[in-house]
Amino acid sequence: MKAVILAGGFGTRLRPLTCSRPKQLLPLGTSTLIGYLLEQLQQANVSEVILATGHDIKHLQEYLGDGSAYELIVHYSVESEPLGTAGAIKHAESFLQGEDRFLVLNGDIVSDIKYLQLIKHHQQHKATATITLFKVQDPSRYGVVEITPEGRIRRFVEKPAPGQAPSNLINAGCYVLNHTILDQIPSNREVSIEREVFPALCNSATVIGWEHQGIWVDTGTPASFLEAHHALLTKMRKSQFIGEETQIASSAVIGSNVTIGKRAVIGPHTRLTNTVIFDDAIVGEGTIINEAIIGQGVVIGKDLRLEKHVIVGDGAIIEAGANIPPGTLICPNCHIKKDETPPHCFVKNYKSLSV
Ligand code: GDD
Ligand code: MG
Repeated sequence: MKAVILAGGFGTRLRPLTCSRPKQLLPLGTSTLIGYLLEQLQQANVSEVILATGHDIKHLQEYLGDGSAYELIVHYSVESEPLGTAGAIKHAESFLQGEDRFLVLNGDIVSDIKYLQLIKHHQQHKATATITLFKVQDPSRYGVVEITPEGRIRRFVEKPAPGQAPSNLINAGCYVLNHTILDQIPSNREVSIEREVFPALCNSATVIGWEHQGIWVDTGTPASFLEAHHALLTKMRKSQFIGEETQIASSAVIGSNVTIGKRAVIGPHTRLTNTVIFDDAIVGEGTIINEAIIGQGVVIGKDLRLEKHVIVGDGAIIEAGANIPPGTLICPNCHIKKDETPPHCFVKNYKSLSV
């Protein structure tokens, strides 16, 4: 089985973290978003992965190479301009020759979807497309389906207006598609699978739903990025992930739902909760961090408070005595000095990967 991973988005809602790295290379537990996905696919007997991407290719290629570290083959399907979710699949067609069916995954989902069961369900029902579904309270920011009692998808509506969703079963961004669907996607233009392909296909072919129950998080926002870590820790019955060679002072209090990368230094009397700290970061004595995301190599001074979705881009320095209000976003490599209060949104002068 082959799988196409859609990884061409810009990760704008995760800036400033994605100013200096693609979304797929954000850390997740002891791995990265893409690493975690590849491990799961390999365990589901997927032998080849086609990474559909554009501007991020260089970083992803450096990180994944040919995929041998994950015991599968990684191909790169590179779009010079984003072709949309279906356009990207069409663009990857040459890698899918001879495959009767294949998996497609949104690259920003953290889940424990049972891919083997999904594929089996697709084959048993002789479907043209099988869409993994997940039940949520507020479906308005997702693709939403209307489904028959037999499990056939009658209607697919992308991001319905509030109150207009036909159900609370959403598109979980994970499909099995028959090769024949490729003939229905136009080449060389932007095509959305959610807005064009699925709505039309529901009228002309057997599109079915397969409901996933378990972990499912779209990591597109800082809050959901933290939520994904929380979900993984809960699943593993752990409170923390602590990376190799990280030094934590004995008087530091590491609360629940904390992920710290490799080689970080956490100073005495610090208090951390609901937080992700990337590799090589340094947290000064007495600093309190709660519900924040701290990028790679960040240096945080003494006795600071970073709370409620403060996000610090890679390589930033925050001196002791700076004032960081909740929700502050700090650009990569910014230097916030003593007595300085950065504006609420400090994402400026960032170096986007696409530039
Ligand atoms: N290669 C490529 N090219 N990938 C793309 C492109 C493109 O032009 N546009 C988006 N992607 C990738 C993104 O990187 C992401 O992994 C995935 O496609 C979905 O795009 P998002 O921008 O994250 O969409 P969304 O989260 O608003 O909505 C999608 O996911 C929901 C589940 O989280 C839709 O598929 C919804 O229907 C779905 O419910
Ligand atoms: Mg998304």
